[in-house]
Amino acid sequence: MCGIIGYIGKREAAPLILRGLHRLEYRGYDSAGIAIVSGEKLFAVKSAGMITALEARPELKRLIGNIGIAHTRWATHGEPTEQNAHPHLDCKGEIAVVHNGIIENYMELREALQKRGHTFNSETDSEVIAHLIEESYEGVLEDAVARALKLLEGTFGLAVVHTGERKVVAVRRSSPLIIGIGQDEMFVASDVAAVVEHTSRVVHLDDDEIACIRQDGFSVMRLSGEMVEKRVDKVEMSLSQIEKKGFKHFMLKEIFEQPASITNLLRGRLKDGKITLTPNLGLARFERVIFVGCGTSWHSAIIGRYLAENLAGIRAEFEYASEFRYRKPIVTNRDLVVVISQSGETADTLGALREAKKRGARTLGIVNVVGSTISREVDGGIYLHAGPEIGVASTKAFTSQVMALLLLTLYIRQERGLENDPELIREAAAMPAKINAMLDNLDVIKNIAREFASYKNFIYLGRGINYPVALEGALKLKEISYIHAEGYPAGEMKHGPIALIDDGFPVVFIVGNDAQHEKVLGNMQEVKARKGRIIAVCSEGDTDAARVADYCITVPQTSPLLSPILNVVPLQLLAYYVADAKGLDVDRPRNLAKSVTVE
Ligand code: AGP
Ligand code: GLU
Repeated sequence: MCGIIGYIGKREAAPLILRGLHRLEYRGYDSAGIAIVSGEKLFAVKSAGMITALEARPELKRLIGNIGIAHTRWATHGEPTEQNAHPHLDCKGEIAVVHNGIIENYMELREALQKRGHTFNSETDSEVIAHLIEESYEGVLEDAVARALKLLEGTFGLAVVHTGERKVVAVRRSSPLIIGIGQDEMFVASDVAAVVEHTSRVVHLDDDEIACIRQDGFSVMRLSGEMVEKRVDKVEMSLSQIEKKGFKHFMLKEIFEQPASITNLLRGRLKDGKITLTPNLGLARFERVIFVGCGTSWHSAIIGRYLAENLAGIRAEFEYASEFRYRKPIVTNRDLVVVISQSGETADTLGALREAKKRGARTLGIVNVVGSTISREVDGGIYLHAGPEIGVASTKAFTSQVMALLLLTLYIRQERGLENDPELIREAAAMPAKINAMLDNLDVIKNIAREFASYKNFIYLGRGINYPVALEGALKLKEISYIHAEGYPAGEMKHGPIALIDDGFPVVFIVGNDAQHEKVLGNMQEVKARKGRIIAVCSEGDTDAARVADYCITVPQTSPLLSPILNVVPLQLLAYYVADAKGLDVDRPRNLAKSVTVE
């Protein structure tokens, strides 16, 4: 899931593509590189580390030219070193390639190419592409790329340049690529964030399409050779949406955007007690709903199951996308498979979607990025309209996913002729204001973060619909602070994890204001009896929980079915302030990337 950008046009390429590369940095940031076609020569500069390390290289001043490509990497094959950074060149230094994805048969290709005299400079899978194009090249770059691709197995988003041709060739198979259409200049990039300051007109490439991009336009053909007419889409994203606007990190900005993102999600969909959705799937006829996702989106999938059972009265399941797609699931056309994905590009979720469709299920997407691959392949969908989520740790997308799942399950309820609970509808509409109220005073959370930032382990416990909130809180902490944290059903603690509890192993309880409240209090006592230190997220007025906990973070009262939206906010903030207290790069945590477009 690296970031790719290419340019051809009237302006100097290097400054433009380096600036655009920064807007893709959340997709991968362990190393970076750039190649510029300068007259009949090709200059490439690569660097381990973040893009700023590349920009500090003195060689950059040689990069004069108006055709270029660049890459910010999330390594899959070969350590994140300068040698393994992209672009990768052919033996003659005439072709440069940047690649997003995995070439599964690269070892056999590499051995064969080496036998034919090719010299390799990296340990990556990607470098074979440059040498295959070199072998296939007969004067037309896109034809050489098409011939080379026939030998590749795996996934790729590519951008390719050649010293002898005034063009950028781009190819897509599973890894996203868009073309940005400017005035007498053209861009290609992994997503619109990289081009939004230059154009609002983009073309989304589909699998096995090759684009030949020139200064004055582009053409697209399928791998099979026939030309393709592509629709030009208008970008919804604005430059200001991808700026930090005074916040220290994108993650904090996005936590604070949650009242607005929930408002955007509800707009036009919740009115006068009625839910209006346009999935056009005849949702009442399904016998089962299966929710599928990865990471935070899998946590939303678990919540989706609770909401479907409680509100829609329909059989419901949830599954990791990476498990579902290889499990040989028994799925029929009486099943609705709901794929949940903020980016709409997660390889495993896309794989699960395609497997569900192959087995006859109808599919619905809950997606944030408009025009993303998943949003274009589902039978129907609900866009979150949360705006770009740049921070690697998902925050506003999660709360919007939960609200979208509430709308979906209420809509199914409506289609089944069941009445909606007006109190629940009122509470849903009140969510933005209730989140806002929590954001007014963060001192309690900041103090707890300072107190616990040095601890090495945490366990997060919740019951029922707040069990996935425990999982989400633990994921937030571990992915940005690198502290080990586990989420667990509170009822399961005594079946093993309680052995971990002592005064050095803090326990975060999500204390729902629901039927299991007393049970959770009992679990808190069990922890207390073993000198465990308790941080509790509980509803305003829950004096019982406040009495048992060592630290208590209160959230406004609401319907139990909506409580995940409020209960998760303190956990997002706790993770943020712990990571910030540790001086870590909250928006670009080590080893991670925002969109996992590799398997
Ligand atoms: C969440 O904080 C993580 N960044 C990660 O688990 C993420 O939720 C997962 O990769 C799924 O991404 P998606 O929603 O874009 O499909
Ligand atoms: N597989 C390639 C590499 O390891 C590309 C990884 C990516 O998509 O960032 O360099």
